[in-house]
Amino acid sequence: MSREKSSGSGKLWGGRFAEATAGSVEAFSASIHYDSRLYKYDIAGSKAHVTMLQEQGILSEEDLKLIVTGLTEIEAEIDRGEFQFKRELEDVHMNIEKALVDKIGPAGAKLHSARSRNDQVALDLRMYLRDQCDYFVELLTAAQQSCVKLARNYIGEMMPGYTHVQRAQPVLISHHMLAYYEMFGRDRDRIQDCRKRINLSPLGCAALAGSGLPINRESVVEALGFDGVTANSMDTSADRDFAIEFVHCLALIQTHLSRISEELVFWSSQEFDFVNIADKFCTGSSIMPQKKNPDIPELIRGKSGRVIGSLMTLFTLMKGLPLTYNRDMQEDKEPIFDAIDTVSSSLAIMAELLENLEFNTQRMNEATQTGFMTATDLADYLVMKDVPFRDAHGIVGRAVAFCIQKGCELADLKIEELQQFSPVIEDDVYAVLTAEGSVNSRVSTGGTARERVEEAVAKAEKQLGMV
Ligand code: ARG
Repeated sequence: MSREKSSGSGKLWGGRFAEATAGSVEAFSASIHYDSRLYKYDIAGSKAHVTMLQEQGILSEEDLKLIVTGLTEIEAEIDRGEFQFKRELEDVHMNIEKALVDKIGPAGAKLHSARSRNDQVALDLRMYLRDQCDYFVELLTAAQQSCVKLARNYIGEMMPGYTHVQRAQPVLISHHMLAYYEMFGRDRDRIQDCRKRINLSPLGCAALAGSGLPINRESVVEALGFDGVTANSMDTSADRDFAIEFVHCLALIQTHLSRISEELVFWSSQEFDFVNIADKFCTGSSIMPQKKNPDIPELIRGKSGRVIGSLMTLFTLMKGLPLTYNRDMQEDKEPIFDAIDTVSSSLAIMAELLENLEFNTQRMNEATQTGFMTATDLADYLVMKDVPFRDAHGIVGRAVAFCIQKGCELADLKIEELQQFSPVIEDDVYAVLTAEGSVNSRVSTGGTARERVEEAVAKAEKQLGMV
């Protein structure tokens, strides 16, 4: 680390210091290279703050005008990429405040009355995350729409449903895709719920104990689009629950994305050959000319590690921190930002990939014809003929063992052969031994019968405004 000297004189908090900050300390403690992302919120928050100060008679109208104009100019400079962020000014808050003082003089130095960086950083983060909530609701809605479009396009087509990656019962492809519609829907609900706890104004809690100046915390609420103010100044300065909760929502989204990714990876393998992922979403191998690899789902699956990692970082960061603010908390931003960038890009590209996905319906349908997937249907058939379910399970198990020996499926057995296992079996049994019969018998709420799935698709389309 360099031992260069830096000018302590430039510091906004330099008063009690006899010595300039070490260059190594500035380099180690600066956050400006990532928290500059918050500049718009920092400026909007400062404008609302000074407006309140003026309303309360703490700031003159003239100073208010100077500050607001100065902040507007600074924002435009940052927008245009002309603003020079300085590492020795640590973070976004001090960079903007110092630029304001340089620009408008003494009035600029009044901006920080009744405020601390502790409520300021909480304010910026809350406003930023609130907007991110709205953005993620949009992204999730788009991903849901992609799932529902597939469900609509492939309505009536069957595929094997799996447990333990073993063929279990035939289902509709649409039913499978609507499972992801549900997951993304819960993700959206969770984000919207989390937004309620994010969207409270911390401004005016100051360092930790509140302000002794005659401020009015409530008056910034409307200007900044908050739902209210936080209740306890110490909790406010110490709190990052809202960020942990938000990143938890993101980690769960990425977990859902990793599950659909995993399915796409093996569905696109030659062994399954259930889907064709569009060429533009795949890559080739540098050595094996025949390869078409599902890199995008693989990367999404892989990136779940870093998002869950970000959540663990935040938990570990906050665990055991005494009240109230501690500088450790500056470490919250990088994992938050990384989680946001990772999950938003993963969600967007997954939605695009799904829009371009083709199911190999013939192959998927064929796969429903083998693997004794109607065994449960045969057991249910026996139950309807008053055979206790446990006995029915045993009867069908023996019939399956017989088929394995014979090398055939249940539907291939002659009626006399089936009757060896139970005399209650009659000719009508063949209707339940087909995959279609099995699918369409599952009419219970949430089941895979075509009529239930058609209702579910229509309901989803309506909910998403697609019709
Ligand atoms: N850059 C700091 C952070 O992100 C801002 C708050 C600093 N507060 C303080 N008391 N040093 O946490």
